[in-house]
Amino acid sequence: MKATAQAPSNIAFIKYWGRKNETLRLPTNGSLSMNLSNLLTTTTVEFSPTLKEDSVLIDKQNIEREGKRVSEHLDRIRALAGINIKAKVVSSNSFPSGTGLSSSASGFAALTVAAVTAAGLSFSEKELAILARQGSGSACRSIPDGFVEWTDGDTSETSYAYSVHPPEYWDIVDIVVVVSQEKKDVPTSEGQTRVGTSPFALLRQDHMAEKLRLAKNFMSQKNFVAFGELLEREALEMHAVMLTSYPPLIYWTPGTLRLMKMITQWRASGIEVYFTINTGQDVHLICQQKNQEKVTTLLHELDFVKEIIGNYPAKGTRLIVQHLF
Ligand code: PMV
Repeated sequence: MKATAQAPSNIAFIKYWGRKNETLRLPTNGSLSMNLSNLLTTTTVEFSPTLKEDSVLIDKQNIEREGKRVSEHLDRIRALAGINIKAKVVSSNSFPSGTGLSSSASGFAALTVAAVTAAGLSFSEKELAILARQGSGSACRSIPDGFVEWTDGDTSETSYAYSVHPPEYWDIVDIVVVVSQEKKDVPTSEGQTRVGTSPFALLRQDHMAEKLRLAKNFMSQKNFVAFGELLEREALEMHAVMLTSYPPLIYWTPGTLRLMKMITQWRASGIEVYFTINTGQDVHLICQQKNQEKVTTLLHELDFVKEIIGNYPAKGTRLIVQHLF
């Protein structure tokens, strides 16, 4: 059977950086995110007895390392379905991949839902999240709708994602700013394994549970300023761990820093806008919808900005009827 799924990427306000179990991808702490309406991956999967190997095309390219990760994920699904048939996978991103916009989150969420369906299985949202997590941790947060928590569990069954609020709950926007098309030189999965080398890792770990609790509180109060201050400090703290890991992880480029400084200035002039950054140079600007136009106009004045993608809170992963092949 052939199946196609569409998944949003997500931006974490409280982040996942470090694992307590590598094989199962169990994070050292819980995290909180929002699905992004305009960073989407669409993936079609078909299992076919005529294939000798899995065939994987992502954005029309056949990249060995990514193909291997996809095949390993298909193996998990084959084992659950009790089949041994190879698959054709075609995937397409609506945004640049590999520059820090979390294409692995939307990619593995779409792959999970499409492949599970194509294998003839029927899983609950929680089961899909648990499975997606094993492909790429943050992918589990792209399965449920809207604002999502990935629970801090010690077993595979207790480390899943669920919707804290639906997309329409809060009118906040993530304005994604692409500052260069360069691919990051250390992939996220590899970067995650260096966390323990930072002298700040344990310090950060000590207050992650409290930060997550606060973030959920501010979200339920819709206290945007407190929420924004917290998410920006959280991003800088995660990058402090990255910068002090060995070998160091420096994901920022000059454009990233220039933008961080501009945002601080805009805020001093009274605009409520905050930033967060993942493993890459691109910057996510978080503001309320009432300020989106003002912020976008300011961004258009900056010559180093390559692309601006406005995102609203979005639904999670869905099956769709238009196949890619
Ligand atoms: O799921 P991964 O292995 O791509 O890791 C995601 C890591 C961050 O984007 C930096 C943080 C997060 O929680 O999304």
